[in-house]
Amino acid sequence: MTLAVEIIVFMLITAILTGAVIIFNRILSPSGNVKIRINSGEKELTVKAGSNLLSALLENSIYIPSGCGGKGTCGLCRITVTENNAGALPLECSFINSQDLKKGVRLACQVKLLDDLGVSISADYLEARLRSAIVIQSTLVSGDIKEIIFETQEELVFECGQYVQIKVPSEDEQLFRAYSLASDPAEQKQFALNVKLIPGGIGSTYLHELKVGDKVEFTGPYGEWKLDLTPETELVLVGGGVGMAPMRSIARSVTRCIPGKKVSFFYGACTMDDLLFRNDFEKLDLDNSNFTYFWALSSDTNECTERMGFIHEFLKKELEPPIKDRQAFLCGPPPMIDAVMEVLFDKGFEETEIFYDKF
Ligand SMILES: Cc1cc2nc3c(=O)[nH]c(=O)nc-3n(C[C@H](O)[C@H](O)[C@H](O)COP(=O)(O)OP(=O)(O)OC[C@H]3O[C@@H](n4cnc5c(N)ncnc54)[C@H](O)[C@@H]3O)c2cc1C
Ligand code: FES
Repeated sequence: MTLAVEIIVFMLITAILTGAVIIFNRILSPSGNVKIRINSGEKELTVKAGSNLLSALLENSIYIPSGCGGKGTCGLCRITVTENNAGALPLECSFINSQDLKKGVRLACQVKLLDDLGVSISADYLEARLRSAIVIQSTLVSGDIKEIIFETQEELVFECGQYVQIKVPSEDEQLFRAYSLASDPAEQKQFALNVKLIPGGIGSTYLHELKVGDKVEFTGPYGEWKLDLTPETELVLVGGGVGMAPMRSIARSVTRCIPGKKVSFFYGACTMDDLLFRNDFEKLDLDNSNFTYFWALSSDTNECTERMGFIHEFLKKELEPPIKDRQAFLCGPPPMIDAVMEVLFDKGFEETEIFYDKF
């Protein structure tokens, strides 16, 4: 082969390889724009191809819940894809049941925008807007949990068990973290959050560092818990650690508004120091014959041996058979929720009577 032929062959191979790389790049990293048709064309967005549906919606001020900031670990960013659904990824199947998967439900943070898409979004989410609140109190209530009280200009209308999403300042993206509302909804222009500091955690560190007078932005309220407010329906509340927050809201509101309603609150903490607001719950128990407070410690070996153990074990022992209808509300770490669910099923609860937030 002459040198000239060798050069031509080399250039041909180089051209073919470069072409292949360009084609693969086009396929893997699509460029240009795609359209998102919302609610059959009620609204249409033109966004950059290649990002994910959650980021595109947040960039366009559509605040669907996104508790883990798109890591695929909270399962909150559920949305129905009505056109061009490429199918759920294995990770999504642990959050979405098979019936909903068939209906096109996806986690928005896992939907890559490769093509035009049709989605259905509830009016609540379309109407959600970014609001602001001022810190009026920040108190350390245990070694790593702060109660932070905020004041809003307009009343925050919410129901017990709902949560807000706090916007965490970030230069690169719209970042939110979810926090359960711990206050009584009657407190009108104030709301309280109980926040556990996660070492290295972006959202919890931001909230723990806030000072009185600082301003935060938030969206919400959100949440699917449906409390049956009829006095005859009993409530079983189970909270683990900082998962006590929504239970505090329910306990305070229900004992005030529906004093005849039977409420049992089971609170599991690690140590005595983590047993938050014990005096408040004991006072509610003392003042209200229909409110009962149980607590258990999973790792404090020095004190209260009769209270040692996991909260689901106490639930198994102490939960009385129902007088009439009942509902259960659970909040806390995933292993606690799974163990409590098992006890509740054993005690005859139906899936539709149980509501939970795992975090
Ligand atoms: C519906 C809902 C309600 C919630 N309500 C509350 C509430 O009332 N109070 C509250 O404190 N939190 C609540 N959370 C959790 C909260 O949204 C954040 O996930 C939490 O504050 C951690 O966020 P971060 O940004 O500080 O940590 P990230 O920056 O997201 O995480 C930092 C690191 O810590 C790890 N990590 C995250 N969470 C935990 C954890 N719990 N334990 C150990 N390691 C962890 C992550 O895997 C990561 O490696 C709620 C979550 C949901 C979904
Ligand atoms: S934002 Fe948490 S799963 Fe999508």
